Amino acid sequence: MELNILTVCYLLASVSFIFGLKLLSNPATARRGNSIAAAGMALAIFGTIFLYRDENGNSLHNYGWIFGGLVIGSIIGIFAAKKVKMTAMPEMVSLFNGMGGACAALISIVEFNHLVHGFKEAAYASDGFSFFSNVDKTTLLIILLGLIIGSVSFSGSMIAWGKLNGRIKDFNFKGQHIINNLLIILIFGLAAFILIASPEETVLYFYAIVALSVIYGISFVMPIGGADMPVVISLLNSFTGVAAACGGFLYDNKVMLTGGILVGAAGTLLTILMCKAMNRSLLNVLIGSFGGSANGSAGAAQQGGGAYKEISLSDTAMVMAYANRIMIVPGYGLAVAQAQHVCHELEKTLEAKGVEVKYAIHPVAGRMPGHMNVLLAEADVSYDKLLEMEQANDELKTTDVVLVLGANDVVNPAAKTDPGSPIFGMPILEVEEAKTVIVNKRSMKPGYAGIENQLFFQPKTSMLFGDAKKVLQDLLAEVRNL
Ligand code: TAP
Repeated sequence: MELNILTVCYLLASVSFIFGLKLLSNPATARRGNSIAAAGMALAIFGTIFLYRDENGNSLHNYGWIFGGLVIGSIIGIFAAKKVKMTAMPEMVSLFNGMGGACAALISIVEFNHLVHGFKEAAYASDGFSFFSNVDKTTLLIILLGLIIGSVSFSGSMIAWGKLNGRIKDFNFKGQHIINNLLIILIFGLAAFILIASPEETVLYFYAIVALSVIYGISFVMPIGGADMPVVISLLNSFTGVAAACGGFLYDNKVMLTGGILVGAAGTLLTILMCKAMNRSLLNVLIGSFGGSANGSAGAAQQGGGAYKEISLSDTAMVMAYANRIMIVPGYGLAVAQAQHVCHELEKTLEAKGVEVKYAIHPVAGRMPGHMNVLLAEADVSYDKLLEMEQANDELKTTDVVLVLGANDVVNPAAKTDPGSPIFGMPILEVEEAKTVIVNKRSMKPGYAGIENQLFFQPKTSMLFGDAKKVLQDLLAEVRNL
């Protein structure tokens, strides 16, 4: 086997992806993992640009386009990554994921045109008697798969992006699932026709597949509401990976294939984990038949929860300083307020007073997988203080005070008690098991799922209103004075 420098570059890049992924599994090493995988990707890209030779020994020539794209893309990427707020990270990930899907779909479009072009030349050369069997059907199949999956991932991710930043509201109507299923049948029916017909006759159908797949991506993600977006986001991630792997197959590019397969596999595993966290079946996700609230609008809050009681800062400080065990439940609001550092300060101050403090981490708290872990890692909170949901639920029974910081859906008992609730069945942090619950948020407004939370009206719950950062700063001062 000829072992050229480019092959070695690809091998090193593939190893860096796998090693990087491994390091990503722990917050302490995640940053290093990301850098190593990025370096591997740079090696693969520049190796391809400078070392690639086709079967006739020709190198790449359109450097203007390549470097133009690289420079523009890098500037946008650096600018976006520097500017993005931590809370807007999930939207950015969705946006970038959509771009990956679009790239995969574009590769399929380009390669289909090559096939048709090549076919026409072959047909003319043989007096028009060349048939479609001359076209490599495996290649065509991969082109079609990359096209469909990439287009669905593109439009679906764009809708997910809009939903995460609140620009797009859930939308569904009766019979939507039937239409979705019909769309899928139509898309695969057209793909089957393209596979058996002559390419010249199928160009129009090919572009019809592009349009239908884009529409399917939109109508697949549009109705998904409540708290179910995490599953869809990870599913779309895996779609982009598979679509990119199709590109790697088409170009016989091993590193693209490896990268795509790794993203596809990691996305699929994450989807399974998210399904578990939401207690949904993957089949439900795939046929797009879960999600929105009963009235079809996850944004509508239910009214009339009853009376709630408030607690003052000084009383909160007192209750916390004299507790034995405290569990902090971080949620999206903590990230919005950027209160992770002061939260860590409070934890250290309480521990100095002999209070045991731990954190209960719900797998879908925040807006992206691992959001709370990343947030708390930023503030150097020790990892052994973070409890996963099952362990936290066990320990909540013997906890004196739970401090809920900007979390809502992940502590909503409706998930256990109200079969009509859009989050019914989702495992939650059972904070009501603790002796006292203190909830910090700015108002009585609902969280992402748009539903009221009966926890706030329970006798053992007290509300501590205000922005999490300001409240924690004031609370810290009170606790220090005790
Ligand atoms: P949410 O249910 O969204 O609740 C967050 C709460 O934080 C809100 O009720 C809000 O109430 C409060 N808040 C906002 N800004 C605040 C601030 N500056 N200070 C204090 N409180 C503030 O969050 P959660 O409990 O973390 O649940 C996550 C939700 O997002 C789930 O429904 C989940 O399914 C969904 N989701 C998760 C992901 C992933 S992968 N994690 C992805 C997409 C969607 P106020 O406005 O009254 O302050």
